[in-house]
Amino acid sequence: MNTPIADFVQGCAAGGALRLHMPGHKGVPALGPEALDITEIPGADVLYHASGVIAESEKNAAALFGSAKTLYSAEGSSLCIRAMLYLALQYAHLTGKKPLIAAGRNAHSVFLSGCALLGLEVSWLYGDDASRLSCRVSPEELETVLEREKPAAVYLTSPDYLGVCAEISALAAVCRRHGALLLVDNAHGAYLRFLSPSRHPLDLGADLCCDSAHKTLPVLTGGAYLHLSKSCPAALLPAAEAAMRLFASTSPSYLILQSLDLCNAALAGDIPAQLAERAAQLDALKAALIANGWTLVGDEPMKLTLCPKSRGYTGTELAAALQKKGIVCEFADPDFCVCMFSPANSAAEIAALGRALAALPAKESIPGGPPPLGRPERVLSPRGAMLAPFETLPAAQSLGRVLAAPNVSCPPAVPILVCGERVDERALALFGYYGLERLDLVLPDAELGED
Ligand SMILES: Cc1ncc(COP(=O)(O)O)c(C=O)c1O
Repeated sequence: MNTPIADFVQGCAAGGALRLHMPGHKGVPALGPEALDITEIPGADVLYHASGVIAESEKNAAALFGSAKTLYSAEGSSLCIRAMLYLALQYAHLTGKKPLIAAGRNAHSVFLSGCALLGLEVSWLYGDDASRLSCRVSPEELETVLEREKPAAVYLTSPDYLGVCAEISALAAVCRRHGALLLVDNAHGAYLRFLSPSRHPLDLGADLCCDSAHKTLPVLTGGAYLHLSKSCPAALLPAAEAAMRLFASTSPSYLILQSLDLCNAALAGDIPAQLAERAAQLDALKAALIANGWTLVGDEPMKLTLCPKSRGYTGTELAAALQKKGIVCEFADPDFCVCMFSPANSAAEIAALGRALAALPAKESIPGGPPPLGRPERVLSPRGAMLAPFETLPAAQSLGRVLAAPNVSCPPAVPILVCGERVDERALALFGYYGLERLDLVLPDAELGED
């Protein structure tokens, strides 16, 4: 597969032209890759008005992912999520539906800020309330909510941070029956397309989906895709670039764009075979861990999520113990320790994790998990809360007040309480459990501003 962006930039770097254009480093190395860091000079095309090398490379990506259209993001899935929400709003206008979106409660905080900016209302799908990070929504629950609320769109996070995949095919069928657009935050699952058979949301019925290429493929941090599926309403396709333009920087990183471009060649080459091999090795490791008494969660092949309290470790303690052995995990909290693999990890590295875990002595199990949240009282919409004047106070002084911002650390950036909801005793207990000490709270006078 050709690599038009990378070829163009390498040609520029080799050509030695006098650089009287941005960036200011002029190709002189300080970090290393400056010679390849260019801007939108003639021939480099223009992201989101693409007709040259970028358009050609995006067509390659669309062919690889089997989409009707794929656009690059140099600003992560965060940008693509805002663009998807804008397209959902366009869909509401086109169909005369309410600007309302039904969303799995484990949505990333950028979903909330996107809804707030666009004035989209949210109806939460709580699923099985398994944990803050997972919420398995059943087709029955979705059916009930779509019947009752008639939202324009549905938003699911799959896979989630723990590696739990939603039942996309069954949920997509429910959405189709109700004429609701299905948006999937597949930030963690770009590679799913290259498993055999594919487990990518586009192949399971999603209309729109974002993939953080940088999370699971050999792509620089920030590289992501916005995909529009072949089932997506045709009227949305021409609006996709405008949707990205609305939120994107006008100075996209050409290092990231080259990285996405080169990834196409890797995806057309060795990656599927390497993935199959690593997934099989990880399957074997997971089976061995379970046989040795470890508890795992999730069904995503390249993620290994441990629930180590049964072995006497909190997730955070386990991550610290692994770090002492030179292994740095993706994420840990009191209950979970998440390890992410890609084809760039060798079989030896997978084995090294297995040895490190085997060497940790089992201790007395730690009881308990996060206190339940229940269904918090909604006082303001996400927009009403996020745009309201606020003050930052210690969590201990927040009882009865309304949250103004998601107030989460990243990772995992999944809110405990959603902005616009009232802090009650249960939420306070959860903030304590996850170590959140300071909160942004709507000023009392502004609580009355809406609804
Ligand atoms: C589930 C989920 N969605 C979206 C995002 C945002 O993706 P990005 O960092 O590519 O902007 C993240 C980031 O961690 C995520 O975990």
